[in-house]
Amino acid sequence: MRQDLPAEGRPLSDLLDDIRTRVLPYPMGNGHPRFFGWVNSAPSVAGVLVAPIAAALNPSCAGGDHAGVLLEHTVLRWLADLVGYPHRPGGGLLTSGASMATVVALAAARQHAAGRDGVDVREDGLYGRPPMVLYVSAEGHSCLRKAAELLGLGSRQVRIVPVDDGFRMDVDALRTLVARDVRAGLRPFCVAASAGTVNTGAVDPLDEIADVAAAHGLWFHVDGAYGALGALAGNAGYLGMARADSLVLDPHKWLGVPVDCGCVLWRDPALTRSTFSLVPAYLRDDHDGGIGWFSEYGPEQTRPFRALRTWATMSHLGRDGIIRLVDTTVRLAQRLAAMIDAAPDFELLAPVGTSIVAFRYRPVDRDDKLDELNRRIPAAVQHRGSAFLTGTQLAGAEALRACLLNPATTEDDLALLLDEIRAAAEIRP
Ligand SMILES: Cc1ncc(COP(=O)(O)O)c(C=O)c1O
Repeated sequence: MRQDLPAEGRPLSDLLDDIRTRVLPYPMGNGHPRFFGWVNSAPSVAGVLVAPIAAALNPSCAGGDHAGVLLEHTVLRWLADLVGYPHRPGGGLLTSGASMATVVALAAARQHAAGRDGVDVREDGLYGRPPMVLYVSAEGHSCLRKAAELLGLGSRQVRIVPVDDGFRMDVDALRTLVARDVRAGLRPFCVAASAGTVNTGAVDPLDEIADVAAAHGLWFHVDGAYGALGALAGNAGYLGMARADSLVLDPHKWLGVPVDCGCVLWRDPALTRSTFSLVPAYLRDDHDGGIGWFSEYGPEQTRPFRALRTWATMSHLGRDGIIRLVDTTVRLAQRLAAMIDAAPDFELLAPVGTSIVAFRYRPVDRDDKLDELNRRIPAAVQHRGSAFLTGTQLAGAEALRACLLNPATTEDDLALLLDEIRAAAEIRP
């Protein structure tokens, strides 16, 4: 949008005209029932309704005794209760998203491990210490590596644990890697498992990984940014999630809270507070109820009123409504998988455990150019304008993936998606 900053201010009605003609016609499209890309939900109606109120109140939720802070404590408790994660006051933080939530969680993990070795990383940094090693599956999200780099651990110290046929972390391989690093004099400190990977929605064997973490004194982190809510669909694979030392769970994903709203929960509030707390005299608050300010649990000082959108979304749906939302979208994903299985020209590439379907187009006559074909398809589908799909790579092969987050999606939409892929594949480059 080429527009210069006007020298003179413009009336609000002019701005609304601009929004009508120059903003609204060009949305990302994630509000639409045929948006299947990445992990971007449609906004919840309740979240949209209250967003202007949060903006108008405009508090900083760094801390203090006001609605923004009180409501954040409430929604953190609700989110933990929803997925069966133990919660104590001071046991979490709303963040901009999972990427920031992961930085917070891994910083606490780093502080914890170094503390056990008698070192305070905040004072001494990582100088002169054996390298600290983080274990992530080959399907772990890139935000884990980014966090490791940002925290000075170095991506060379991020071990990529292989996955099994279901794209879940191979726990034997994890054990082998940890043992090898211990023998090499390194300091294994954290294993980051996924409760819903971004490529296939796979849930790692959390309980077994928790056992390995316990046996080796590793911090057990779970990335449930997309998939933690899948626990509500009765999937037994989530057993062990409650054993995590830290759990990331994004309200702005499956729950549909309007962006931005990530969340990190942790087992030990005092530890995370000791990782970040730095209270200059001008911010001292002698009436903080013993928990302290949210700004003592993460890097941000001024913090937006994210809790209002989350509270409104969760209150409006209620626990049963949230379960229905998850159930409906999981069933849609299973339906799409069944349609793909039944179609001679499509192939399912991974089991469907949550609401992501990984697959590829495989017309009988074009077997040799499958990678090239599937790499072209997402952009071609997007340009046709009836559905939005994105792609990925799975075990080195080009794949398509559909992420089902919108309960308004219908079976007709799923059939149309497959037809759109067929039509897009006919467009020659
Ligand atoms: C599994 C998983 N982890 C982490 C992230 C990063 O989340 P955010 O974009 O909110 O930082 C995503 C984003 O899709 C994700 O799917």
